[in-house]
Amino acid sequence: MTPLPYTRLGRTGLQVSRLALGTMQFGWTADRATSFAVLDAYREAGGNLLDTADIYSRWADGNEGGVSEEILGAWLAERGCRNEMVVATKVRGRMGEGPNDEGLSRSHILDAVDASLRRLGVDHLDLYQTHFFDANTPIDETLRALDDLVRVGKVRYIGCSNYPAWRLVESLWTSDKHDLARFACLQPHYNLAHRSEFERELADVCERYGIGVIPYSPLAGGFLTGKYRANADLPDGARAQRIHDRYLDDRGIALIEALDEVAAAHATTLPRAALAWLLARPVVTAPIVGANTVAQLADLLPATELTLTEEAIQRLDEVSAWREA
Ligand SMILES: NC(=O)c1ccc[n+]([C@@H]2O[C@H](COP(=O)([O-])OP(=O)(O)OC[C@H]3O[C@@H](n4cnc5c(N)ncnc54)[C@H](OP(=O)(O)O)[C@@H]3O)[C@@H](O)[C@H]2O)c1
Repeated sequence: MTPLPYTRLGRTGLQVSRLALGTMQFGWTADRATSFAVLDAYREAGGNLLDTADIYSRWADGNEGGVSEEILGAWLAERGCRNEMVVATKVRGRMGEGPNDEGLSRSHILDAVDASLRRLGVDHLDLYQTHFFDANTPIDETLRALDDLVRVGKVRYIGCSNYPAWRLVESLWTSDKHDLARFACLQPHYNLAHRSEFERELADVCERYGIGVIPYSPLAGGFLTGKYRANADLPDGARAQRIHDRYLDDRGIALIEALDEVAAAHATTLPRAALAWLLARPVVTAPIVGANTVAQLADLLPATELTLTEEAIQRLDEVSAWREA
């Protein structure tokens, strides 16, 4: 396989690979040794954009959060490759029981960044993202705190995730008005089975203002790999029942049938076809793939070499359409 191609993150000068690697599964559904192996395979393929979050995976029994950052930090140290990598993490989720142990206040951000730097074993973050909207904190307070982190060198770029379009525009306006660091990218939930949230308004905002787009769950948590089928056994995995119940309806079944056809016509696999559909959208910078094994990752990486025909894109557009005619 040829190495992953690179592109700019939004309008910044930062070069990132066209597939990012998500690390939510590290220390949850992938143990440390497997996580290291997945990271090694991604790096060997030329990948440089690693996405984590302080809260990963606090929802799992016995997991206090911070585990994904710790595993990633241990790998960076052991391989001595920190400077090759674009390390992205997030702040916002609850990390303790106190009233200020979550959110996007100045107080929590300044505490959380030091905790993330410590767990990752690095002196700066390449990208620091607000994980989701905090209605209790004024946007200028959040941006001022993030701007301070950029100015002291703890953070190089800032981004946001799960923001509604109006909040993203309000953020850009606030940065402009007060001369503060500006969100370079958005991390939205976006894939063939979940289009409207991003496409309704956010896509236009990102295009218009040069915001990089790094979609999460690009395979709908594994649904778009085609392993969830009607009348078939549920695949193994901690998320399997939830994914089955969420996507395997008439619409989901029709989507998988279309992906079957498109994958066959291009002599490729379903997840590659699903990723190639995202990669073909000019607004998309780099989908963030999750992989529990090296084999899963190896199956996904060639997606950047796949160009779908216009006919195939149209077929997938139509079967997953959400706008009313
Ligand atoms: N900002 C946010 O709010 C947010 C939310 C969610 C995720 N994220 C980020 O996005 C990343 C990716 O999210 P995601 O895990 O939902 O992504 P995804 O790419 O939609 O799903 C990944 C899952 O699909 C399955 N899979 C992957 N490749 C496969 C293959 N070749 N064959 C069969 N199954 C395969 C695996 O699950 P099984 O082995 O269990 O089937 C894998 O864990 C996360 O790690 C995290 O960094 C961010």
